[in-house]
Amino acid sequence: MTHQAAEVAKRRTFAIISHPDAGKTTITEKLLLMGKAIAVAGTVKSRKSDRHATSDWMEMEKQRGISITTSVMQFPYRDHMVNLLDTPGHEDFSEDTYRTLTAVDSALMVLDGGKGVEPRTIALMDVCRLRDTPIVSFINKLDRDIRDPIELLDEIEAVLKIKAAPITWPIGCYRDFKGVYHLADDYIIVYTAGHGHERTETKIIEKLDSDEARAHLGDEYDRFVDQLELVQGACHEFNQQEFLDGQLTPVFFGTALGNFGVDHVLDAVVDWAPKPLARVANERTVEPVEDKFTGFVFKIQANMDPKHRDRIAFMRICSGKYEKGMKMRHVRTGKDVRIGDALTFFSSEREQLEEAFAGDIIGLHNHGTIQIGDTFTEGEALGFTGIPHFAPELFRRVRLRDPLKSKQLRQGLQQLAEEGATQVFFPERSNDIILGAVGVLQFDVVASRLKEEYKVECSYEPITVYSARWIDCSDKKKLEEFSNKAVENLAIDGGGHLTYLAPTRVNLALMEERWPDVKFRATREHH
Ligand code: G4P
Repeated sequence: MTHQAAEVAKRRTFAIISHPDAGKTTITEKLLLMGKAIAVAGTVKSRKSDRHATSDWMEMEKQRGISITTSVMQFPYRDHMVNLLDTPGHEDFSEDTYRTLTAVDSALMVLDGGKGVEPRTIALMDVCRLRDTPIVSFINKLDRDIRDPIELLDEIEAVLKIKAAPITWPIGCYRDFKGVYHLADDYIIVYTAGHGHERTETKIIEKLDSDEARAHLGDEYDRFVDQLELVQGACHEFNQQEFLDGQLTPVFFGTALGNFGVDHVLDAVVDWAPKPLARVANERTVEPVEDKFTGFVFKIQANMDPKHRDRIAFMRICSGKYEKGMKMRHVRTGKDVRIGDALTFFSSEREQLEEAFAGDIIGLHNHGTIQIGDTFTEGEALGFTGIPHFAPELFRRVRLRDPLKSKQLRQGLQQLAEEGATQVFFPERSNDIILGAVGVLQFDVVASRLKEEYKVECSYEPITVYSARWIDCSDKKKLEEFSNKAVENLAIDGGGHLTYLAPTRVNLALMEERWPDVKFRATREHH
């Protein structure tokens, strides 16, 4: 195996999907503890600010330094290199989250054992299913009272439409939580409370049918053995191929707070989850072990210092190798750029890496030229696909406080739209500016960033738009006819695309029926 192929094979790139409060932050911390990226848990600043009311957003902005370095975390585990991508924690399901999930090869689903499958879990699983992303599951908070584990697995299967294969099975919960039993390999991993903040030795009891196991389970022993019979009869067995196809999820139990079980899921990611996968571009499929460098930008984030308007573009490497100082072609602009100061996210006592491979994420300093979805290569004209915009569901008309600032407003909105913070529409028939968002928090974020970064104050007015659809039509004449008829509801979006702003659901349905040659698209690929 070449050095490059070996490096690719070592990599695992994944994200955590969960409903707020299920324990994502706590698990992230424990993962970093295991990757020796931090010595003691509790040192990672919680990203709870995301959850606060919108008035706290400026405070959030001040803390961006933290969220930037934690939005991608790279650490070694066993003989592997793990890239953990943080999915944004906004209250609203955001496009950013979706795009982050396009940059991973697998995901870790975390459920609160007391609650089970929650709304955000469902939304995120829907996104994962679009690409059949393999999912490892972790049922958290076993140190509390949890729901019947069998019922939880049934819920995963029924609601999320994925087979659930328990790998471990919990022995009690809350004060009686005694650890987990490994179903296939017949051993108990013993839980001892009070070691949540450090790496500890794992205590194992070989074989359930042993005196030691009987002593450990005490009065619960017989009931547990009975339950296991039921579980083994009723549950799916783990199957590697079904897991890789996104049809089956291995399920683990534990407590992130108690630092128990998180290592089992990390082992599962390393042992079972795929190494960096091939990526589809418009022109061809790109293999991770190809010599030449390729990558795509899936996220742009404002930097710590809003005054400089410096932003970081996060790029997933799809093939080849990044080396400090290398030259890359920015395919959309056709320009060659030398990249000497890309950020890598190796978060350990060891030194920063100077090279990166497929599966890794690097951060490029962006002064407004890089857009989400952009592809970089060593010269080949490639465009990676699958990083779409979504039709927004919420709309506001922007009202400018100082009319003389309309140029700054347009410029600001254009840039924020490029970054993916909002979508902007310019109606054909008026001078209005309409903002579209997938989640309501986005509007406040945009207003406060316009004020801080562009010195423009604006407010919002309600507007009756039900949804937006990107218009596509190969028949020029039909398109013209349609454009004339529908002009009142047509707009150009921030990327220059013709968009239909439907006032109501009924109107949209009618228009789609009336204009069968016109495509009303709910998603749009970048470029
Ligand atoms: P999130 O990022 O998914 O939103 O969840 P986070 O890790 O912040 O966890 C949400 C709450 O659940 C936190 O409590 C956290 O301490 C708690 N938690 C996480 N894992 C476990 C677990 O295994 N057992 C128990 N009992 N609690 C767990 P909080 O009170 O909201 O915050 P904090 O003030 O304790 O940090």
